[in-house]
Amino acid sequence: MIITVASFKGGVGKTTTAIHLAAFLQNDAETLLIDADPNRSALAWANRGTLPFAVTDEWQAGDYLPDEGHVVIDTPARPDPEDLAMLAEACDVLVLPTTPDVLSLDVLALMVAYLEPLAIQNYRVLLTMMPPSRRIAAALRPLLESIQPRQFDHSIRRYAAYQKAAQQGQVVSAVKVAKAAEAWYDYVTIGQELLLKFGG
Ligand SMILES: Nc1ncnc2c1ncn2[C@@H]1O[C@H](COP(=O)(O)OP(=O)(O)O)[C@@H](O)[C@H]1O
Ligand SMILES: [Mg+2]
Repeated sequence: MIITVASFKGGVGKTTTAIHLAAFLQNDAETLLIDADPNRSALAWANRGTLPFAVTDEWQAGDYLPDEGHVVIDTPARPDPEDLAMLAEACDVLVLPTTPDVLSLDVLALMVAYLEPLAIQNYRVLLTMMPPSRRIAAALRPLLESIQPRQFDHSIRRYAAYQKAAQQGQVVSAVKVAKAAEAWYDYVTIGQELLLKFGG
């Protein structure tokens, strides 16, 4: 399965999502994470510690592609709309992380408004950094409801454990802080949904 993580906006959890989906998928089959963001955040994460899957930049990806298995691609913020359409066509599923605030959701609405008329359906919106209650401000609900059919069944809660994981170059499941198990569980549910719906 090829999963691309993208967003017009930075800081919405793309890299965190790419790392943790790759970690989940590695338990299913050999997985390669391609860091296609010039900031190289995923590569830096890998270099600070140890991750249970290979990470490479886009130039060297050809040397590491698993024969069978999974590829997760982390991308820079703000690809232009044409890029987004191309990204969607080149993968099995395009994951669009967004935080539950009006600025991110407005940008998400732009992306959705671009993809839908092109009949691009292989994308899923992932809510990240949700308050632990998973409660969303009432004002934001109509925006989210409009994209309901293309949302994951679950969302990712906000936990400081992810920052610790990034600092230590680990997956959150390997970090010894409070709520690390809960944090990992959130990505497990998303990974399971991906395998079920897009794993073929
Ligand atoms: N679920 C989460 N809970 C708490 N902090 C998070 C979560 N996801 C990401 N972060 C933090 O938010 C910041 C941006 O995340 P990152 O994955 O780098 O986003 P992007 O790749 O979209 O720029 C980082 O400091 C990261 O540790
Ligand atoms: Mg990033």
